[in-house]
Amino acid sequence: MENQVVIVTGASAGIGKATAEYLMSKGFHVYGTSRKAVGNIEDNIGYDLQSGGFIRMIPLDVTCEDSVKTAVNNVIAKEGRVDVLVSNAGTGIAGSIEDVALSEANYQFEINFFGTLRVIKAILPYMREQGYGKIIAISSVAGFISIPYQAHYSASKFAMEGLIEALRYEVAPFGIKACLIEPGDTKTDFTKSRIVAKGANEGSAYHTRFTKSLARMEKDEQSGASPVMVAEAIYKMIKKKNPPVRSVVGFQYKLVLFLKRILPTQILEKVVGSLYN
Ligand SMILES: NC(=O)c1ccc[n+]([C@@H]2O[C@H](COP(=O)([O-])OP(=O)(O)OC[C@H]3O[C@@H](n4cnc5c(N)ncnc54)[C@H](OP(=O)(O)O)[C@@H]3O)[C@@H](O)[C@H]2O)c1
Repeated sequence: MENQVVIVTGASAGIGKATAEYLMSKGFHVYGTSRKAVGNIEDNIGYDLQSGGFIRMIPLDVTCEDSVKTAVNNVIAKEGRVDVLVSNAGTGIAGSIEDVALSEANYQFEINFFGTLRVIKAILPYMREQGYGKIIAISSVAGFISIPYQAHYSASKFAMEGLIEALRYEVAPFGIKACLIEPGDTKTDFTKSRIVAKGANEGSAYHTRFTKSLARMEKDEQSGASPVMVAEAIYKMIKKKNPPVRSVVGFQYKLVLFLKRILPTQILEKVVGSLYN
């Protein structure tokens, strides 16, 4: 694992930050990205003297193709290769389907789905040339179970899941592996960064139910797991020669996936509805 080169998008907070720090402690050369990072690739560096790993923070906005290409090209110019991509940058939007404007829905997809796609497309030519590489996309439990007032977030993660499932077939002949990590509620800045749709205001027909549901989501996230748990799951997949298509983080969420597979849809809908509606 020593000296492997990894790009972690969205490494300024939460899961990305915990992952960057965890991988640095294992000796990785980590290039963490953030929209807020300033300066060039030589600035903003932190070392772990024991492991020999480091984190360099570099600017990257996943909604901007030029920004993505520049960041990836700079890492290649510095290191000559990228062993692992952790596509983690993401955010959530809340509101009923009727209340979320199309422009807001678009923005959600720009970050979570097209953001991931942009970074993957920028890295693939290099990984193909190398003849190896691993792409780990951070999806969510919401990527296999959709809950009310978070439809666009779920849809963006469902879309990401479809992308990665197909990607696995396409890149396998080039020695590249791709997989999904599906965290459940995790205590990060995600809760405070969530965008509430402008239309989800007091005038909305959904307002009372939406407010209750949002409060529940926020409470669950803030009493959720440590992001280090997700970092450990990511590290496990980096070490695995053939990672499975999806890995759910946390026993209770593995159980949720199992129940989704075996329960009749009507029962599942009753349970989810009683929790969030
Ligand atoms: N927290 C949860 O309960 C949970 C559960 C399941 C899945 N997830 C997923 O885990 C991932 C990380 O979320 P988190 O919980 O760690 O949230 P977080 O603490 O809010 O961190 C989000 C990261 O994404 C970056 N980011 C946001 N928009 C970006 C953009 N346009 N371009 C580049 N970077 C951008 C942020 O960096 P800058 O603002 O510095 O650019 C930040 O580093 C997301 O994909 C999320 O969907 C979270």
